[in-house]
Amino acid sequence: MAEIIDGKALSASIRENIAAEAKRFESEYGRKVGLAVVKIGNNPASEVYVRNKIIACEKTGVRSFSHDLPESVGEDEVLALIDELNGNGEVDGILVQLPLPKHLNEKKILARILPQKDADGFHVVNAGGLMLGLPCTKPCTPAGIIELIKSTGTEIEGKNAVVIGRSNIVGKPCAMLLLAENATVTICHSRTRDLGSITRNADILVAAVGIKEFVKGDMVKPGAVVIDVGMNRADGKLYGDVDFAAASKKAAYITPVPGGVGPMTVTMLLKNTVEAAFRCKED
Ligand code: GUN
Repeated sequence: MAEIIDGKALSASIRENIAAEAKRFESEYGRKVGLAVVKIGNNPASEVYVRNKIIACEKTGVRSFSHDLPESVGEDEVLALIDELNGNGEVDGILVQLPLPKHLNEKKILARILPQKDADGFHVVNAGGLMLGLPCTKPCTPAGIIELIKSTGTEIEGKNAVVIGRSNIVGKPCAMLLLAENATVTICHSRTRDLGSITRNADILVAAVGIKEFVKGDMVKPGAVVIDVGMNRADGKLYGDVDFAAASKKAAYITPVPGGVGPMTVTMLLKNTVEAAFRCKED
């Protein structure tokens, strides 16, 4: 039976350090670290994520600036808000919760955030930095995944890591971070043929497809580390991308849903924000 990787417990211990750093910032610079959280429209999942992020800020001693814009908001208004937040000396990090309503240009809006205030690491400058191995802000979910894997004591170097999913938010940056840790990385997606033959070679398997229980037990290599990024809501419950019951019979370590990747995403957001605050003062 696999050992469960407790993302909540790992988050709690990392957040203690972040809270101490946030306190140090406040005593050195006379104000709290600030994170602006922009939510547009009423996507039910985004409502939950944004609420969790704001609560986490409060508990960590980070001030949140909440901006809720209506579904029908014009692009110019969103860009004007970002310009204002970019220029606001109390705001160290900015996040725009995705997905955006269809009429808004996501690339344009994310590119308007100053790269140094890009708490999510979604700006093209940070994405490019990750690709080139330059210092940059790393996307929160992939950064959290690396911490979860390391928390098991598993050495990443030289391992076969398979990422299912190629999104800009999770799949692609996760592959880059695993590569930076010297794993041999394979990215799979919806057009991949004979997926099982690839995943059965994975010492580290990251499932980020967004399909409930997509990864079956027979797709998991015995002794693998399985990271489940799925947040699929069905019949009032939350399901991962991995069939947990079957996969946990094969894996050595596995993350649960909820309580695995989710809390780590929020923790890495807080970490990025506090680091951005210090960086801005030290530059
Ligand atoms: N939507 C899904 N995940 C994320 C995330 O990590 N950050 C933002 N801003 N939006 C998301």
